[in-house]
Amino acid sequence: MVGDRRVAGAGAVKRRRGAVRVEKKTKSLSSRRWLERQLNDPYVQAAREEGYRSRAAYKLIELDARFGLLRRGAKVVDLGAAPGGWSQIAAQRVKASRPGGGKVVAVDVNPIDALEGVTFLQADALDLATIAPIQAALGQARADLVLSDMAAPATGHAATDHLRVMALCEAALDIGEALLTPGGAFVAKVLKGGTERLLLERLKRAFRTVKHAKPPSSRVDSAETYVVALGYRGTGEAPDAPG
Ligand SMILES: C[S@@+](CC[C@H](N)C(=O)[O-])C[C@H]1O[C@@H](n2cnc3c(N)ncnc32)[C@H](O)[C@@H]1O
Repeated sequence: MVGDRRVAGAGAVKRRRGAVRVEKKTKSLSSRRWLERQLNDPYVQAAREEGYRSRAAYKLIELDARFGLLRRGAKVVDLGAAPGGWSQIAAQRVKASRPGGGKVVAVDVNPIDALEGVTFLQADALDLATIAPIQAALGQARADLVLSDMAAPATGHAATDHLRVMALCEAALDIGEALLTPGGAFVAKVLKGGTERLLLERLKRAFRTVKHAKPPSSRVDSAETYVVALGYRGTGEAPDAPG
């Protein structure tokens, strides 16, 4: 069974009515629940079988099916990329490893293992100085798509978590507005209740269409959802030279 090896030594695993249960031994209740959820999650199992680095890969697959985001040859910036599931999907779909294919620039504060067709930058998206190296990695070309699956560790305090996610979303939009080509698209993780009024107004000014979407693989008990903005109005100017 997928995952059995990880559990070895941490508590026994039992199957009851098709579902995997982790027996009480050394694990705390919350880590047993997390482990059971992982072991019983079809997306976790599918990700393992299909070689994706995260179950999150399916969220991008589903968003792409609905909004047609990832075209062959597209230049993509993936913010909050670790461990790399979204970058894998993006690199496959824009054909980043093929001649004439697209480009994927992935950014995270944490490192990732190298991925074919992906340029990785270990950097903080909240820092505006991160824009210049992304631009350089894009070869000074504009991006067709800026993705942000960035998330800060949950504090359990809803208002604090909301503020943190909004700050990450705003930083992603700063990067999007600096780098997107006219007609480009922007996707960012937000929390239920959607984007804050000011951010939503900013998105509506900058893009022709703004929608919220919760992909089926996003856990129902998770407050996350995504804002998808299409048709960047942009300036049409060449990006500024990195400072
Ligand atoms: C949910 S994970 C992303 C999963 C990824 N989309 C995948 O498919 O594998 C969220 C990521 O956001 C990153 N992150 C959080 N704050 C960040 C920041 N300020 N700059 C860059 N990355 C950040 C975290 O390090 C974490 O790896």
